[in-house]
Amino acid sequence: MSPSDPKAWDDAELMSVDELRAVQLQRLQWTLRHAYENVPAYKAKFDAAGVHPDDCRDLTDLARFPFTSKQDLRDNYPFGMFAVPMEQVSRVHASSGTTGRPTVVGYTAQDIDMWATVMARSIRAAGGRPGDRVHVAYGYGLFTGGLGAHYGAEKLGCTVIPMSGGMTARQVQLITDFQPDIIMLTPTYMLTMIDEFVRAGLDPRKTSLRLGIFGAEPWTDEMRREIEERVGIDATDIYGLSEVVGPGVAQECVETKDGPHIWEDHFYPEVIDPVTAEIAEEGELVFTSLTKQAMPVIRYRTRDLTRLLPGTARPSFRRMERITGRTDDMIILRGVNLFPTQIEELVLPMAGLAPHFQLVLSRQARMDHLTVRVEARPEASTDLRGEASENLVRQIKDRIGVTVDVAVVDPDTLERSVGKLKRIVDRRKVD
Ligand code: DLL
Repeated sequence: MSPSDPKAWDDAELMSVDELRAVQLQRLQWTLRHAYENVPAYKAKFDAAGVHPDDCRDLTDLARFPFTSKQDLRDNYPFGMFAVPMEQVSRVHASSGTTGRPTVVGYTAQDIDMWATVMARSIRAAGGRPGDRVHVAYGYGLFTGGLGAHYGAEKLGCTVIPMSGGMTARQVQLITDFQPDIIMLTPTYMLTMIDEFVRAGLDPRKTSLRLGIFGAEPWTDEMRREIEERVGIDATDIYGLSEVVGPGVAQECVETKDGPHIWEDHFYPEVIDPVTAEIAEEGELVFTSLTKQAMPVIRYRTRDLTRLLPGTARPSFRRMERITGRTDDMIILRGVNLFPTQIEELVLPMAGLAPHFQLVLSRQARMDHLTVRVEARPEASTDLRGEASENLVRQIKDRIGVTVDVAVVDPDTLERSVGKLKRIVDRRKVD
C-alpha cells in the first residue's frame, strides 16, 4: 500500500474529519444491526433499554444504547458474545483477569486482517519502516500482545523476531546477535531488559535498537525519559485491550509523542463519568467497534481513565491522554485517590532511586496504610538513600496529599517484570 503521504501507512489515516464521521456512522449502523441480529445478549440488552439499531441516525444516537461490561462477557462465557458461526472464527484470545473466568474474544479472518492493519499503522506511526527488524517480547499465546504485534509487523513488511516474554538473558543475547531496529514489550519489562544488559557487561545504549513501542500497562513521561536515555531510542505508547481487538487500538506518533491517536475508523471512543455513566470531559474510556465481525462490542466500558484530545500528527483522529490508571487500580487512602503512575512520576526523577518500586497496602490501627518500597540505585550512598527517602515522603505529601512510608531497599531485591507488572501488593486482608 502506498498512501499519498509517506508518513502514513494507508490512505484511511489521511481522511478528512467529515469523511471519517461519515465512515463511522455507516459502520456504526452496521455494527449495531450485526450485534442485535446475531448476539442474543445484545438483543436482550437493546430491547430492555427500548432501543433498536434503526434508532441510530447520527453518531450522537449511540449514547442511547446500553453499555457493555466485562461482566457481560463473563456471563456469556466462553463464546456467547460471538456474532458469527464458530466455523468462521479463525482465532480466539483470552485475558486471565485477576478474578473469575477469563474473558474470551474471537476473530474472523477479516478481523485478523483489520487488526494487522491497525498494528501496521501503529508501528509505522512509531517510526517503523518496511525492512526493519522487530524484536517482539510481548507474550505470545492467549494474551493478545505477542501475536498482535507479530501480524502487524509482518504486514508492514518487517522481519519479525518472535521472542515472547521471559528468558531475559537470552533476549539480550539475541538483541546483540540479530541487531533488531525495533523492540516491542511492556515498559517495566524493558527496565528488566536494561538491568540484564548491564549484568552482562553490555552498554544498553550501544544496541542496534532505534525504537521501542511500549504498552499493556500504564506508564509515564518520566518512564519514557528513563528508557530513552538509558537505551538511546525513541519510545512511544501503544494502547489496546483484548475486548476491543488487542494492541493497536491507539498509537502515539513518534514525531509528536503527545499521547496515542485512536484509530477511529475502526474503534469509536467515548469518555464517561465512571460513577454516573454520563458523557464527560475526563473519565472512563468506552469503545464501540466499527468493523469487527466475530465479536462486535457496543459501548464497552474499559475502566481506563483518560481524556480525549484533538488530533495532531494525524489531524482527523482524536488522541487520548496517556492513561492515568484503571478504576480497579485506584487506591483510596484516607479519602485521597491515588494511582501508581503518580508515584512513578515522583520516584523516577529522584537522585539515588532506581525505577523499581512496589506499593504495599496494609492496615494499621484500623487505617489503611501505604508503604512505597523502592530500590536504591547501585551507586547510591547510605546518605543519599536517606535523603531520597525523606524527599519522597515529602513530595508525596505535598503533591498527592497523603502521608506514606517509604522503604528504600537494596538494588535487585524487588521482583522484576517480564510482562505486565503488578505494582500493588494488598496485605490488608491478611493483616
Ligand atoms: O494489554 C493489549 C496490549 C498488548 C496493549 C500490548 C498494548 C501492547 P489486555 O491484556 O486485555 O490487552 O489488557 C488491556 O491493559 O484496559 C489497560 O488497562 C492496559 N493497557 C494497555 N495498553 C496500555 C497503555 C492488552 N498504553 C488493559 N497504557 C487496558 C496504559 C494500558 N494502560
